[in-house]
Amino acid sequence: MCGIVAYKGKEGCSDILLSCIKNLEYRGYDSIGMALAADKSNSIEIRKDVGPIDLVDEKLNFTSMQGNKGIAHTRWATTGSVTKENSHPHFSSDQKVYVVHNGIIENYQELRKELTDLGITLNSETDSEVIPQFIAIFVKEGSSLIDAIRKTILKIKGSFAIVGMHEDEEGIFFARKESPLVIGMKETSDGSGEKEFFAASDVPAFLSYTNEVYYIEDNEYGIIKEDIVFRDIIDNKIIKKEIQHINWDIDQAKKGEYAHFMLKEIHEQKNTIVKSIQQPSSLVEEVSDILKNAFGIFFVGCGTSYHAAVSASYVFTHVAKRHVNVTIASEFRNYKDYLTDKTVVVAISQSGETADLIDAIKTAKEKGSKVVSIVNVMGSTITRMSDKNIMMNAGPEICVLSTKSYTSQLAILLLLAHAIVDKEEKAKELIRKAGEEVTKIIDNNFLLLEKIAEKIKEENSMFLIGRDLAYPSALEGALKIKEVSYIHAEGFPGGELKHGTIALIEKGTPCIVLTTEATRDMIISNASEIKVRGGYMIGINSKENEVYDEFIKIGELGHANPIAMIIPIQILAYHLALKRGCNPDKPRNLAKSVTVK
Ligand code: AGP
Ligand code: GLU
Repeated sequence: MCGIVAYKGKEGCSDILLSCIKNLEYRGYDSIGMALAADKSNSIEIRKDVGPIDLVDEKLNFTSMQGNKGIAHTRWATTGSVTKENSHPHFSSDQKVYVVHNGIIENYQELRKELTDLGITLNSETDSEVIPQFIAIFVKEGSSLIDAIRKTILKIKGSFAIVGMHEDEEGIFFARKESPLVIGMKETSDGSGEKEFFAASDVPAFLSYTNEVYYIEDNEYGIIKEDIVFRDIIDNKIIKKEIQHINWDIDQAKKGEYAHFMLKEIHEQKNTIVKSIQQPSSLVEEVSDILKNAFGIFFVGCGTSYHAAVSASYVFTHVAKRHVNVTIASEFRNYKDYLTDKTVVVAISQSGETADLIDAIKTAKEKGSKVVSIVNVMGSTITRMSDKNIMMNAGPEICVLSTKSYTSQLAILLLLAHAIVDKEEKAKELIRKAGEEVTKIIDNNFLLLEKIAEKIKEENSMFLIGRDLAYPSALEGALKIKEVSYIHAEGFPGGELKHGTIALIEKGTPCIVLTTEATRDMIISNASEIKVRGGYMIGINSKENEVYDEFIKIGELGHANPIAMIIPIQILAYHLALKRGCNPDKPRNLAKSVTVK
C-alpha cells in the first residue's frame, strides 16, 4: 500500500522529505513523486516518475527542489497502471491543488464522470486524482480551503489517508479514513519556538527526526500551519488531541551492519521471542479471563498472522483443551451470523493496519463481540479499535516478510494458552528454551542452508509437509519461500499430499519435512511416499532419518516447536532470494502493510 509523507518547517526540506519517503519504500515501490513549495509563495514544483526511489532520484534530482513544505509518495498501484501520469502527487487542472493518497476510492468512476461532465480534463486513470480536482473546484466556487477539503472527502466512498497543499494557501492539509496517518511534531532547536511537522503513513518515516506523534483517527482532518487544528469530518467540530511518545529508536528501523532488513530481523529473534512474553501479568490475567468466559473464540488474521492463528489453534487444543475457530480475516464477515456478545475475537497483526482485519474487527464489534488484539505497532488502528491489546514489543519490522513478528505471535499465543490453565510459568520456561534454541539454529545453520539453497535454487515448485503443530509451520514456510524467491511453494498436512498433489512430484522436487517427536512415525511414512517418487527430502527436526537427503537438526520443544522450526526456513528463503536475484526486503508486487481490501 502506498506510503505518504508531508513536511512543513525548515527551508530546503527536499532532503528531509526524500529521507522520510525512503523509510516508507517498504509500503510500495511502483513509482515516487514529490511536490514542494515555499509556504508563503505561490509556486509549487512537482517531480514524479515510475521506478524505485533511488533510480528516479538519480533522474529527477529531488534534493534540488526548493521549499519549506512539501508532500511525497511511494506508490503501490490499485487503480490505474504503473505509469508516470498515474504516479502521485496528483494535481488539479488549474494546477493549484496537489495531493498524495493512500487508499481506494470505491466511487471513483462516478466522481471522474462528474468531473468530465464539468469539462475537467483528467490527467490520469487513477481514483486519487478526483481529490485535488474537487478541492480546486470548491475553492474556485468560493469555499475556504478547509471547507473545500471537507466537501470533497464527504463525496468519497472508500479509504483514504491524504496530505496536500493549495498553491495560494499556507500549510499542509490532511485527512484520514481507514488508511493510516500519523503526524510527528518537533520544536526547532534554535529556541525560536518554531515547530517542524511531519505527516506519514507510518512512524518509521520520521522516527529519526522526532518521537512525538499525534495519531489521526478515522474521519479526522485539518490543516497544519504554525500549529495543528484537528476537526471531525462528520460534524466539523474541533478535536483536542494529546501528543504521544513513541518508544522506538531510529536504529531499530535501520539495517545497521546487516545487508538486508530480512537478515537483521531473523537475527533479532534471538531476543524478540523472549521479549514478547514480558507482558504485565495483570494484562495476561485479564485476557485469559476474557478467553475463559468466552462462548466462541475466533483467531483472525491474514498471511503470516493467519498462520500464527492456525498454529495457536493446535496449542489451545492441546494445552487449554479449548476449541478455537480460525478464520482468514477477509472471510470473517461471512461468519457474522454466528457471532454474539459472548464471542471473543483475537485479532493478530504485525502492522495493526491490515484493512481486511480492520474490516473483520468492525464486523465483530457490530455484533457486540469482544476484541483482543496482538499487534506490534504502537498506536496503530487495530490497537485503537480493540478492547484489549497485547503488544509484541518486537521493534519495527521493516522487511515486507514477517519473520520476528511471527515468532512473537506464536510465543504470546502459547503464553495465553497456558495462562488459561494457570500454567503461565511453564510457558515462560518453554519460551525461554525456544529463544535459546533459535539462537543456536541461527548461529549454526547459515552455511548448510546456503548449500541447500544452491542445490534447489532453479526449482519452480516445492512442497512442505507437517502434521499437528508442524502443519501450520509448513503453511508459513511455504509463504516465506514463495513471497521472497518466487518459487511456487505449497504447505500441506503430511497425510494430504497423497490425495492428489503427489502427482506433481518429479525427480528432484524439493520437499521440506517438518517433524516433531509426537508426529515422527506418521510423517516419515508420508516423506517416504514422496521420496520414492523422486522427491529431494529436507528434514527439519530433532532426529536424523535415512529418508532425508538434507537434515537440519533442531531441539525438541514440544508445544513451542513451531517457534524453532520456522527459523531454518526463513534462512533458506533468504538465501534462495539472493541466489535468484530477488530483493529480500522488497519482493515484487508486495507491500508491508496491506491497507487496502
Ligand atoms: C507475510 O510475510 C506477509 N508480510 C503478509 O502475509 C502479512 O503477514 C499479512 O499481510 C498480514 O500483515 P499484518 O500481520 O501486518 O496484519
Ligand atoms: N488507489 C491509489 C493508486 O492506485 C493509491 C493506492 C494505494 O494506496 O496503494 O494510486
